[in-house]
Amino acid sequence: FTKREPRQDMSGLRILITAGRNAEPIDPVRFVTNRSTGKMGYAIAEAAVQRGALVTLVTGPSELRPPAGITTISVQTGQEMHDAVMAHVDVQDVIIGAAAVADYRPKLRHEQKLKKKDGPLVIEFERNPDILLEVGKRKRADQVLVGFAAETENVLENARGKLERKQADLFVANDVSQPGAGFGTDTNIVTLVDRAGDTPLPLLQKRDVADQILNRVLELRERGPVS
Ligand code: CTP
Ligand code: CA
Repeated sequence: FTKREPRQDMSGLRILITAGRNAEPIDPVRFVTNRSTGKMGYAIAEAAVQRGALVTLVTGPSELRPPAGITTISVQTGQEMHDAVMAHVDVQDVIIGAAAVADYRPKLRHEQKLKKKDGPLVIEFERNPDILLEVGKRKRADQVLVGFAAETENVLENARGKLERKQADLFVANDVSQPGAGFGTDTNIVTLVDRAGDTPLPLLQKRDVADQILNRVLELRERGPVS
């Protein structure tokens, strides 16, 4: 049989990908998290390494096994994910934020397990840093920045707003209310949103969505950002 050899069209390119969710502790035994499994980010890491890229995967807690041949940095909180990305961002050619970063963390991390009391429990949350926004601010012209927008309404408008606000080059807009798209599935339905317009893609395996995203990243590197 013949094994399909992927094109080595990302040979030597440095790419950093964030993936999965965060766990934000309340006390030693409890945390706040979300439904992201890491499948999309891990699929991009796998596609990129097969195409010859030098891959750094910054991942929150995930059941998935990272692909062989990459550098994996495992983190828990949004702050840890932020710090890992900032420590490695300068040497990257491409940065892809596929993680569902926790927007908020509990303001207090209790040293001891909370005991229940009569009446409701109130937990105060504070903002986590916005990793993509910060990368966008310090990004060089030769770096390509890609974000994901998981939305349940006004999908394309919201994605375009985030593209501009975070000074990204490409946003992957994801309607997570559609069957076959979003959290935990092996497939996804996305639209690529960049400054040249919108490109809707059909229902695809996440691994194929990954290759489509990387194809667009290479095009953006060649043509440079449209102004
Ligand atoms: N992101 C990030 N740091 C955060 C929040 C989000 O880097 N603290 C990144 C995500 O990895 C994603 C993009 O920003 O690539 C958009 O995330 P999303 O949650 O859709 O947007 P937010 O800016 O957080 O806005 P909101 O959740 O209010 O829609
Ligand atoms: Ca968010």
